[in-house]
Amino acid sequence: MILDNKIRDQMEYTLKETRFNLGKKYQGKVRDTYMTDDKIYIITTDRISAFDRVLTTVPFKGQVLNQISDFWFSMTKDIVKNHVISVPDPNVMVTRKLNILPIEVVIRGYLTGSAWRDYQKGNAVSGIKLPPGMRKDQKFDKPLFTPSTKAKEGHDMPLSVHDIVAQGMLSKELIQKVEEMALKVFKRGQEVALSNGMILVDTKYEFGLDENNEIYLADELHTPDSSRYWYADTYEERFRNGQEQRMLDKEYLRQWLIKERSFMGDGHIPEIPAEVIIEVAKKYIKAYEEITGKKFDAKVGDVLERVKKCLGA
Ligand SMILES: Nc1ncnc2c1ncn2[C@@H]1O[C@H](COP(=O)(O)OP(=O)(O)O)[C@@H](O)[C@H]1O
Ligand SMILES: [Mg+2]
Repeated sequence: MILDNKIRDQMEYTLKETRFNLGKKYQGKVRDTYMTDDKIYIITTDRISAFDRVLTTVPFKGQVLNQISDFWFSMTKDIVKNHVISVPDPNVMVTRKLNILPIEVVIRGYLTGSAWRDYQKGNAVSGIKLPPGMRKDQKFDKPLFTPSTKAKEGHDMPLSVHDIVAQGMLSKELIQKVEEMALKVFKRGQEVALSNGMILVDTKYEFGLDENNEIYLADELHTPDSSRYWYADTYEERFRNGQEQRMLDKEYLRQWLIKERSFMGDGHIPEIPAEVIIEVAKKYIKAYEEITGKKFDAKVGDVLERVKKCLGA
């Protein structure tokens, strides 16, 4: 496991923000993207967000997320084409620019999170009727496709396949093809994760079309930011006993802020001590190793300088 000192030394070198001359910039909470006519440079910074606000930066977090996506894109490329052109730096993915479909492609293997909340209101999730008497965190016989809107602000709303076609958002053929591909990618994700002792519980995909209307998998893939993971070895027992599942720990900072600083997202962002940030970094690195089954090769030093040089930006 990585030493605390290595993480501490990296704290002054984290990637906060980029200002490159690579194309039209879009700054998300975590990633900076630059669009050219046919390409996108996706730079995963070390920013961390919770309560929909960027709170601070965490050493190696950008590398962890970018490399988890990279891992999954290569593990699934035999199933569906993806947008990756190259990964020239641990924090950078150069991708093909696509027309992103206007829905979030959500796949769920278990009844949990917002699906569980919806189910309790009337035994249905995204217009899919489920049998009565299901329990929280129960596995579905087959994973469910529960698409949602892509909200610019606030929360995504569930959208049934019927509505997507009826509203003319996507043709029936296209949505069926996307569902089929997403389910295959999810199945592969579950198999690979399980071989590393993890359950891929649910995830969100973005698909896009190229100029020939070919379908590609885009955005990020099976990262802790877009997916939920549980530990496989304790699933059954905890489910039987009605206990919360052990999950990959991205809730740590959120919980710390609520408990120790009574911060729930409003007002001034509290100072976060180095020890807490180091703990968060260790959890991300652990997540990388648990998901991929590979050892994390932390790239120390000034990330901004390195990325700038790599992209000639
Ligand atoms: N290959 C691609 N072509 C075009 N747009 C893409 C591609 N991959 C991802 N995107 C888009 O890039 C944007 C990335 O935003 P993101 O960094 O996730 O910020 P946030 O979600 O916080 O607004 C999203 O709108 C996503 O749909
Ligand atoms: Mg996003």
